[in-house]
Amino acid sequence: MKIPFGNLKMHYQQVKNEIDDAIWRVLSAGWYILGEEGEAFEDEFSRYCGVSYGVGVGSGTEALHLALVAAGVKTGDEVITVPNTAIPTISAISFAGAVPVLVDIDPDTYTMDPGKVEAVITNKTKAIIPVHLYGQCADMNPIINVARKYKLTVIEDACQAHGALYKGQRAGSLGDLACFSFYPSKNLGAFGDGGMVVTNNKELANRLRMLRNYGQEKRYHHKIKGFNSRLDEMQAAILRIKLKHLNAWNRIRTEKAGLYFKLLNEFPDVIMPIEMSYAKHVYHLFVIRHKKRNELQNFLMNNGIETLIHYPVPVHLQESYQDLGYKCDEFSITEGSAETILSLPLYPEIEDDGIRYIAEKIKEFVTLKA
Ligand SMILES: Cc1ncc(COP(=O)(O)O)c(C=O)c1O
Repeated sequence: MKIPFGNLKMHYQQVKNEIDDAIWRVLSAGWYILGEEGEAFEDEFSRYCGVSYGVGVGSGTEALHLALVAAGVKTGDEVITVPNTAIPTISAISFAGAVPVLVDIDPDTYTMDPGKVEAVITNKTKAIIPVHLYGQCADMNPIINVARKYKLTVIEDACQAHGALYKGQRAGSLGDLACFSFYPSKNLGAFGDGGMVVTNNKELANRLRMLRNYGQEKRYHHKIKGFNSRLDEMQAAILRIKLKHLNAWNRIRTEKAGLYFKLLNEFPDVIMPIEMSYAKHVYHLFVIRHKKRNELQNFLMNNGIETLIHYPVPVHLQESYQDLGYKCDEFSITEGSAETILSLPLYPEIEDDGIRYIAEKIKEFVTLKA
């Protein structure tokens, strides 16, 4: 059997007719940037998240970058986040001119350890970016409490958490601003790059609208210095269609995750994801741990199963971020997990038989190594 890590071709086939119609509608309308589709999608997605405003931008990275700039983060400011994240969380902070300050993660959730935040706050700290990694929200209440105490802006990195819940509230509605990616493989993915910042703050939303469009409020009248980062009409039209299926797809992901749990729970050597009592996980990624991870990954690959590691090199050990001055061993939870984590294939289209085959092969490996 051959099991790829994802299958976007199959994913498209599920909604082909609706998507093709939407693309045709945009092509025929002859309006491709900042139009009706984008506005409708901003409205629909922000409502889905339970917030008032959405500003469509070019990618998740740009959503984070612009959110930081909109929040007033400037050169020399410090922004607290985690070393176990996709590198764009950090790129956005750097490109806003700020310094990323890292705190280690919680070993059960792989998200920011709220207990470690207060100790790294200085008078330069302006914002905190908790990352809702793998589809589960960070433990937001204690993070927000610290942020309120020191008057810091909270920006959710919700790029992996479309539809996830924290204490019944949607990811995106928890911080002052929240950033989403619509990279094709996300739970809600475009057919190209795309992103959005959502917020309840009208002033921030207005500033973001200018920032993404050369700083202009009115054409050719540039109120502030801005960029070009816009979600185009084609992607917005596609995303409007896919948004209608998001809850159903997330439910299927949860069911598939349930099958993994049922089949793999009996092996103590395989550490399974933990869904916290505060959370509704949407399983963007299904991440297990095993102490012989590299051997397991090779074994699965030799049996036709594609797996990935999210992420093999923590931020502070990346060549590009040596200037932050962190040392090896500084974030022991992140480093320990980077050596043992393995993301198994999980997407709405994967067959249950595929999951059974993966579990069988993992069982074979575990028995071999016992
Ligand atoms: C946690 C996280 N933050 C930020 C991003 C950046 O999103 P994009 O690839 O759309 O720029 C991603 C996506 O890869 C991500 O997973």
